Amino acid sequence: MKRIAVLTSGGDSPGMNAAVRSVVRYCIFNGIEPFGVQRGFKGLMNGDFDSLGLASVGDIIQRGGTILKTARAPEFVQEEGQNRAVASLEYYGIDGLVVIGGDGSFQGAKALSDKGVLAVGIPGTIDNDLSYTDYTIGFDTAVNTVVEAISKIRDTSASHERISIVEVMGRNCGDIALYAGMSGGAEAILVPEVPYEIEHIVEKLQRTSDRGKKQSIIVVAEGAGSAVEIAKQIYDVGKMECRTTILGHIQRGGAPSSFDRILASKFGARAVDCLISGSGGRVVGIRGNRIIDLAIEKALSMPSKFDYKMYELSQKLSI
Ligand code: ADP
Ligand code: F6P
Repeated sequence: MKRIAVLTSGGDSPGMNAAVRSVVRYCIFNGIEPFGVQRGFKGLMNGDFDSLGLASVGDIIQRGGTILKTARAPEFVQEEGQNRAVASLEYYGIDGLVVIGGDGSFQGAKALSDKGVLAVGIPGTIDNDLSYTDYTIGFDTAVNTVVEAISKIRDTSASHERISIVEVMGRNCGDIALYAGMSGGAEAILVPEVPYEIEHIVEKLQRTSDRGKKQSIIVVAEGAGSAVEIAKQIYDVGKMECRTTILGHIQRGGAPSSFDRILASKFGARAVDCLISGSGGRVVGIRGNRIIDLAIEKALSMPSKFDYKMYELSQKLSI
């Protein structure tokens, strides 16, 4: 193993830089020349490669975003795009590739691996929507960002005795809403995994109000509904006014938490270890506080790991 390339793809997440740093430094430690690919699979197809040294990843462990930039590359889904990427890897004499991203990026890594490229994936997405791993890089930071926002909204909402609905990211996965909602003491948490009825939410808000607590927080994952729409429905059913906040891309930025930096550092080294041992077509992850690696197909075929017990507990704690 002489040369390893690394790229970041799909939605960025805080801690991707720490993962890039880990891959680059661990390669150099092992006598391998690391290359950075700009803009994910787009750069892979276009041959945007740079040789990276120790200093090129200095001062980035604490930075959100990704120094390699990221992109969505629809052309790469087609075989022609993948063949261009393989040609670029051959041109630069790359023996192994590390793909940092979410499930879409892992599909891309699998497509390359099916074409004989030694590729390993590192889970980097704030959504935490990859079932095979307990955590993805960026999730912890995003949850902390949301919790901080909820605390601020709670201050003003308590002063005005209002109901506030906070919409967070998560198209298919309610983990950000669940973890941030529980940490933020939300009265209701709406996630794509659990159906809900507006009538039940209104009843709960009414009970809370009858107890004398006029202020409530509802956290909704974008995949479970829009905050604005839910506010309208609550008004229609219960004549209760709600204020709405859509947190949006603020959740994807910011300095990564210590948890995400450490996770990223461990994932980066494990991915390089996989490549050194000649195993490709794999992804790394963490399960029960142990770093693991497994075949991409197996990882992507696992059923949702949504924590229904935690969800039930959140309900019990906000009766
Ligand atoms: P994420 O990795 O965060 O889930 P996307 O779903 O946007 O992000 O995927 C990132 C990129 O991965 C896409 O723009 C595309 O280039 C590539 N990709 C996604 N799905 C496939 C697929 N089925 N086959 C090959 N490449 C794919
Ligand atoms: O996949 C990560 C994610 O942050 C989702 O939660 C969100 O729906 C999406 O990306 C937003 O993507 P874009 O970068 O296209 O706004």
